Amino acid sequence: MDINEIKDLKGKRKITMLTAYDYPTAYLVDKAGIDIILVGDSLANVVLGLESTTQVGMPEMLHHTKAVSRAVKNSLLIADMPYSSYQLNPHECVINAQRFITEAGCQGVKLEWFDNCLKVTEQIIRAQIPVMGHIGLTPQTADKINGFKCQGKDAKTASRLINQAEELEKKGCFAIVLECLPDKIAELITKKIKIPTIGIGAGIHCDGQVLVINDMLGLFDRYTPKFVKKYADLSPLILEAVQNFKNEVIQEKFPTPQHSFIIKEEELKKINGH
Ligand code: KIV
Repeated sequence: MDINEIKDLKGKRKITMLTAYDYPTAYLVDKAGIDIILVGDSLANVVLGLESTTQVGMPEMLHHTKAVSRAVKNSLLIADMPYSSYQLNPHECVINAQRFITEAGCQGVKLEWFDNCLKVTEQIIRAQIPVMGHIGLTPQTADKINGFKCQGKDAKTASRLINQAEELEKKGCFAIVLECLPDKIAELITKKIKIPTIGIGAGIHCDGQVLVINDMLGLFDRYTPKFVKKYADLSPLILEAVQNFKNEVIQEKFPTPQHSFIIKEEELKKINGH
């Protein structure tokens, strides 16, 4: 998949996107034929056990993106720009975005909306790096937008979101993530702009859907947002497997000869003391 193929899907069929943070998961997501793999900064919460996405920086994001990149054969690979790489240090945004392309093999980056978003987006796109926008609930600045809540529930804030989507399209974004907004507002935005919208908690009318892989596989139980559908419940399976291992080791049932290596009796006899 390339950027143009993703853009061409608008109005033809829905676009699929999932996050991945490591090689084995990315291998399966790519193999399943998911259109876009996002190395999200949700890495902070669902993999690194941190409280906020603002706590991951370039070193962590590059490290995980490189691992994902080694597995990806067909999906479009996008990385989240971490908070410090463009919001805290806007003057370093192009250098940092470039690192995801040249060092980690991404085809583009994703930026969350913030006060200086249009200027930063423009600079990165001018450097020929494709940008995916992200509006609505923007976790990096959740404290400024009234917390982790559905956004755009009144005419004033909804109009602001519509405006943001139109401005991002004008700046040249190739797609926009719509996170946690009323389905009718997501539908309005999707109809108004020519680039694809990818929804998460934004209803059925978006051009595509994204979920955090650990949420949809039931691998992250600290909290589950309303918009998450669990397509599998892996935590109990992993717990059971780990408990079985523990019990079998303690009860001396593992390893069996099947999992062991042997030495011929005559070789054993040659060893001093036997
Ligand atoms: O960081 C992330 O996983 C994201 C998705 C929720 C879109 O931004």
